[in-house]
Amino acid sequence: MSVQQQSRPVRPQPSLAGTLVPTDTRSGQPWWLQPVLVVVGLTLFGIYAVVVSLQNAGFVDPYQSPFYSPHVPFGGVWAPFFVLWVPLGFRATCYYYRKAYYRSFFWDPPSCVRPDPHGGRYTGERRFPFILNNFHRFFLYLSIIVVIVLWVDALRAFDFGGRFGIGVGTVLLVANAALLSLYTFSCHSFRHLVGGGTACFSCSLAGNAQHSFWRGVSAINGRHALFAWLSLTSLFLSDLYIRLLLAGIIVDPRWVL
Ligand code: FES
Repeated sequence: MSVQQQSRPVRPQPSLAGTLVPTDTRSGQPWWLQPVLVVVGLTLFGIYAVVVSLQNAGFVDPYQSPFYSPHVPFGGVWAPFFVLWVPLGFRATCYYYRKAYYRSFFWDPPSCVRPDPHGGRYTGERRFPFILNNFHRFFLYLSIIVVIVLWVDALRAFDFGGRFGIGVGTVLLVANAALLSLYTFSCHSFRHLVGGGTACFSCSLAGNAQHSFWRGVSAINGRHALFAWLSLTSLFLSDLYIRLLLAGIIVDPRWVL
């Protein structure tokens, strides 16, 4: 045996033939648990989002629900949908959510350790409607505008009739804007935008600053899936809180100077 052969030990390859692996080998959990949780989570959020959007009432001074931001002064009951298509398109074309819903809703395949029930008929997102996923970067550009608007709403939530204050609603809206920012700026397309296409940082103008920025984005990019779920949860909680205030079911604890 040559020296070259000795330096390359052959690893046993896992076989998928007749795969009936009961657990996800990385987490030790049942393979079906994650797909089921994703289906339940996304379905419940989707139903909630449609129902509250059709009500078109999400402002109680000084809190603006993120579902109705930016506020559109026309369109009646359909007004929220003039904006909602942006975050909806952003999430629907997100690389993380694509993995999640391909696995959970389409079982294509449902997990790493399961065979593909569709016989491997994967078209690489080259056909309608999945070819639209290639527009993700454009949804990113529009979503950055939405994030800026949400920060404006969060800052307005400190203004209690001209006096500075902080209420529970303020905390929720700031947390929501922060989590949506983390989700948006940990996007794979954003990471590519700020440095993924740069072959030589030291050769470019302000290369060190660009490299530092790219490394920062790369660090949060590793938590993108976490931010995807946390920001979805903060959206829900912020809107629900404002809705309960509007209905008079709760009062907002606040500290005003
Ligand atoms: S990859 Fe998820 S938002 Fe861009």
